[in-house]
Amino acid sequence: NKFSRIAGTGSFLPPHRVSNQELVDRLARDGLQTSDDWIVERTGIRARHFAAPDVTSSQLGVQACRRALDAAGLQPADIDLIVCATSTPDMVFPSTACLIQRELGIHGCPAFDVQAVCSGFVYALTVADALIRTGAAQRALVVGAEVFSRLLDFKDRTTCVLFGDGAGAVVLEASDTPGIVASRLHADGQYVGLLNVPGHVSGGEVLGDVTLKMDGQSVFKLAVSVLDKAAHEVLDAAGRGPECIDWLIPHQANLRIMQGTAKKLKLPHDKIVVTVDQHGNTSAASIPLALDHGVRSGQVQRGQTLLLEGVGGGFTWGAVLVDY
Ligand code: ACO
Repeated sequence: NKFSRIAGTGSFLPPHRVSNQELVDRLARDGLQTSDDWIVERTGIRARHFAAPDVTSSQLGVQACRRALDAAGLQPADIDLIVCATSTPDMVFPSTACLIQRELGIHGCPAFDVQAVCSGFVYALTVADALIRTGAAQRALVVGAEVFSRLLDFKDRTTCVLFGDGAGAVVLEASDTPGIVASRLHADGQYVGLLNVPGHVSGGEVLGDVTLKMDGQSVFKLAVSVLDKAAHEVLDAAGRGPECIDWLIPHQANLRIMQGTAKKLKLPHDKIVVTVDQHGNTSAASIPLALDHGVRSGQVQRGQTLLLEGVGGGFTWGAVLVDY
């Protein structure tokens, strides 16, 4: 296969929408103060969705996959690779991808998870594209599925207002024309301390703290600089300039980071697909959720060029240029 292309997109949000005001009231019961104004001004977030306690990443992911398959006009049996990006897997093992595979009734094809936190979808898409181009697969489901609400410390107002739950998926299929035009991935483990969930499982117990820790200001500064570099790397690899970009579809962490990235590329703000206002930061699910929103709202059209880019814990980051 010469290339891969996106044949269909899908997404799913758990029904419980949590407004900023609902969080303000919840935090107030613990004596913590925040406000809709603070959250909107600093992040652009107005609401996020939280899954019910018994709902898992694979369950959200399956719904997104079904919608992506419908959009592509395909059946589960047509799929020969499943790559799931998540940092909130249902179990320690097996992978969330295998649980999605079981639920879709697919047998025998490779299925595995990719763990790159908020860059997870960009990583998963790059891995699936590479496997399709080698001929190892023809039609892949690439999923980002997260229940980040499970990792939040509701006594830490600086982080618990930022995240939400959801899933997004694409069907990626072999093609004679791109598709995925260029992709670049990076990581630098020296920044592990800026953003992490440090706990782990040992001897049948959870050891350490399993809530999210973040140095928000350092993450903010690093994010804008690495995203700009990654964007230029994929544009250079494709021999194109930023003016080719019809839609910037960045990881949805913070509206100010997204606008900062667009500004560096000299793209107007109305070329950014924005869902962070309604979804919050859904980690690996945010880019495919935003892509599916763009497609279904009619913003994103066939024949357009999209720049997907993500940054997250690790530190990890990367970008993918797509002819949709
Ligand atoms: N409500 C009200 N006040 C708050 C809240 C809150 N929820 N949280 C913090 N504050 C206060 C702080 O205590 C501080 O008060 P002080 O000045 O009296 O000390 C003040 O607001 C300003 O705090 P800052 O941390 O300086 O606020 P900042 O403008 O940097 O915004 C934020 C914080 C939103 C976290 C920002 O730094 C950010 O978005 N960083 C990037 C985060 C990000 O993108 N993370 C995702 C990466 S992807 C992944 O892998 C998960």
